[in-house]
Amino acid sequence: MEKNCTACGQTFRPAFVFQIAVTPDGKHHFCSLECRKSTLGDEAFRARRARRIAILNQKGGTGKTTTAVSLAAGLAERSHNVLLVDTDAQGNVGVSLGVAGEKSLYHVLVEGEDPTEVAVPVRGHLDVITSDATLAAAEIWLARQAPEARSKMLTRRLNLMQITRRYDSIIIDCGPSLNLLNQNALSYVDEVIIPVTCDYLALVGVKQVLRTIKDVERHLGHAVRISAVLPTFYDGRTRLAREVLETLQGHFKHKCLEPIRLNTRLAEAPSHRKTIFEYAPTSHGAADYNRVCDWVLATTARMEHEAPRSAAEAQVAS
Ligand SMILES: Nc1ncnc2c1ncn2[C@@H]1O[C@H](COP(=O)(O)OP(=O)(O)O)[C@@H](O)[C@H]1O
Ligand SMILES: [Mg+2]
Repeated sequence: MEKNCTACGQTFRPAFVFQIAVTPDGKHHFCSLECRKSTLGDEAFRARRARRIAILNQKGGTGKTTTAVSLAAGLAERSHNVLLVDTDAQGNVGVSLGVAGEKSLYHVLVEGEDPTEVAVPVRGHLDVITSDATLAAAEIWLARQAPEARSKMLTRRLNLMQITRRYDSIIIDCGPSLNLLNQNALSYVDEVIIPVTCDYLALVGVKQVLRTIKDVERHLGHAVRISAVLPTFYDGRTRLAREVLETLQGHFKHKCLEPIRLNTRLAEAPSHRKTIFEYAPTSHGAADYNRVCDWVLATTARMEHEAPRSAAEAQVAS
């Protein structure tokens, strides 16, 4: 179908992705790269869409919050803009980082408040949307919404250009349950990292998570990739831990990351309101989580290399 170029007015038939762009003020067509650049500026060619990762395991105490906070903080230290969202009513993310947001995820979800205003800058490049006990009320509120809306509320609230373009990564710390909030998290993200403790019941836990993800995919029609299984609380001195690790590696192959070792420093850091990189930068915990950050960056680079997004695609997607 023939279109008029937004920049020069010439009539043409769009044949390339770069010739179409969706911006807040509508859909545009450009006959040439020059016309695109003259209207949208150089920014128009910077492919940006935040990578959205949920840290999920229905079991409590598998290292979800530790992983979410350490990954977010590690990426931020590498100058990546990160938004960390707590979806657990226990509010451990805020506690660990020493912030009590004036407003929380409840205000974003239920009151529809602007997430960019609720998010608190806690470190350089790191913003946080905290949660607290009010989230229980949000869960009840969600349950009262229409079936097609109740699992997509987080997506609706966070799917703003100001969010997806401001951040390189959005990391969601999930609570240990199968509630609507976790369904919301899964509907929003593209991928999941599953922290698994290296103990006897680890595999049972992982299987439950895999089943949940499949259910959500089927119900919500939204594909979620399991990008990694992260063995946690690894104590290489015990035979059980070594066996569990081998089993996980056998099952998940390259998706099973190097384990996070059992490390007291990781347990101590939150009580000092510090990230592991601030509290004990030379600890095993810092080294192990640095490796996870490097893995995220390497896989991001690979994803961008394999599937270069045009600015138009990126904008349509966000
Ligand atoms: N690798 C580790 N070694 C020692 N303690 C850890 C490790 N990872 C987490 N912890 C501690 O274990 C507890 C549970 O971890 P947490 O990240 O809160 O789990 P979850 O969010 O899955 O419930 C916390 O007190 C945390 O500080
Ligand atoms: Mg937690």
